[in-house]
Amino acid sequence: MFRVGVIGLGMGKSHAIGVQKVAAAMAEKGTDPSQDIPELYSLCDINKDKLRKIGEELCVGDLYEDYGDMLADPLLDAVIIASPDQDHRRMAEDALAAGKHVLCEKPLALTREDIEAIVQAADASDKAFMVGQICRFTPGFVRAKKLIDEGAIGELSYVESEYAHDYTAIYNAGTWRSDPLRNGVVGGGCHAVDLLRWIAGDPDQVMAYGTHKTFADVTPYDDTHIAILHFPNGVIGKVFCSISSRRSYTMRSVFYGTKGTIITDNTSPSMTLFTYETDPDHPDGKIRETQIPIDINSHNAAGEFEAFYDAVRTGRPVDTPAVEGANTIAVCHAIIASSLTGRPVTPDYF
Ligand SMILES: NC(=O)c1ccc[n+]([C@@H]2O[C@H](COP(=O)([O-])OP(=O)(O)OC[C@H]3O[C@@H](n4cnc5c(N)ncnc54)[C@H](O)[C@@H]3O)[C@@H](O)[C@H]2O)c1
Repeated sequence: MFRVGVIGLGMGKSHAIGVQKVAAAMAEKGTDPSQDIPELYSLCDINKDKLRKIGEELCVGDLYEDYGDMLADPLLDAVIIASPDQDHRRMAEDALAAGKHVLCEKPLALTREDIEAIVQAADASDKAFMVGQICRFTPGFVRAKKLIDEGAIGELSYVESEYAHDYTAIYNAGTWRSDPLRNGVVGGGCHAVDLLRWIAGDPDQVMAYGTHKTFADVTPYDDTHIAILHFPNGVIGKVFCSISSRRSYTMRSVFYGTKGTIITDNTSPSMTLFTYETDPDHPDGKIRETQIPIDINSHNAAGEFEAFYDAVRTGRPVDTPAVEGANTIAVCHAIIASSLTGRPVTPDYF
């Protein structure tokens, strides 16, 4: 058995259900249960009532209020860290020191110091460490990446993505998310930044602006940023990160290439593919538009866990090692720095 524990039962509940879904799918395929099937084995949350309720709901009896006690169990193989961002470092370090494989929620951490410490701990460990960059498992983005890699839109020229969310209730609740270090670019915008890094590579320069209209009385920092990105391969891009958008949540994204364009997001049932074709009747070319059906699954926790577990099982590298999460936050930090200084900034990659 591969025994998995989950720390933090907000988003962590989706991860816990994701583990159970992967186990159920493997059992259905006839995988030998004594060999390979993962088990949602233990849960941890400082909120006792929530812990008991979710334990009952998911039929998990091993419940902990202290993650240190959970890590002390020698039968536990892996943990999913879904605690507040500020706790990722100590939990990641402790879990690796206890000999557990780790899947850690994004953002990897909020400060450069904490990020560096996690990267070092992950590098020094012989256990798998993966940061959960969920957009790399979101069906519309997975399909877009595959089409781009197959050459469906030719060579990339311009990419854009946005993280538009309304955090009013979150800020009114005054939780850990109100930490100025956990601003909209790092906290949520990291999704859009990571998506563009995955699609187009590492930008070598960013130029950003911020504004502070909607949450003027709520946060001491800008709630909305726009950044222009330059990539070394000649691709240019734009990322919009807002936690005060008066609209339903979206990560609308557009990828332009020399032979076509893809428009997709994380909440629509289809994506649009434009392709440019020439033939003797259309020497100047014509644009063909195709609608491709897409499953809506903006938090594909099962897909993410499946990839993590596959890496552990086969010994292959994880899809997103600590340094990937670290470099995504390096770009986020460059965006903030540029918006504050009014100058272009080169991300300080790890
Ligand atoms: N991938 C995504 O799309 C996505 C979406 C939302 C949140 N997140 C990330 O997931 C993590 C959790 O966010 P959330 O939305 O679930 O937050 P949340 O506040 O809703 O839930 C956090 C949970 O952790 C528990 N907790 C706090 N301190 C703890 C501790 N020391 N030990 C054990 N449990 C503790 C809390 O009681 C709470 O139940 C954050 O890193 C966040 O950035 C990712």
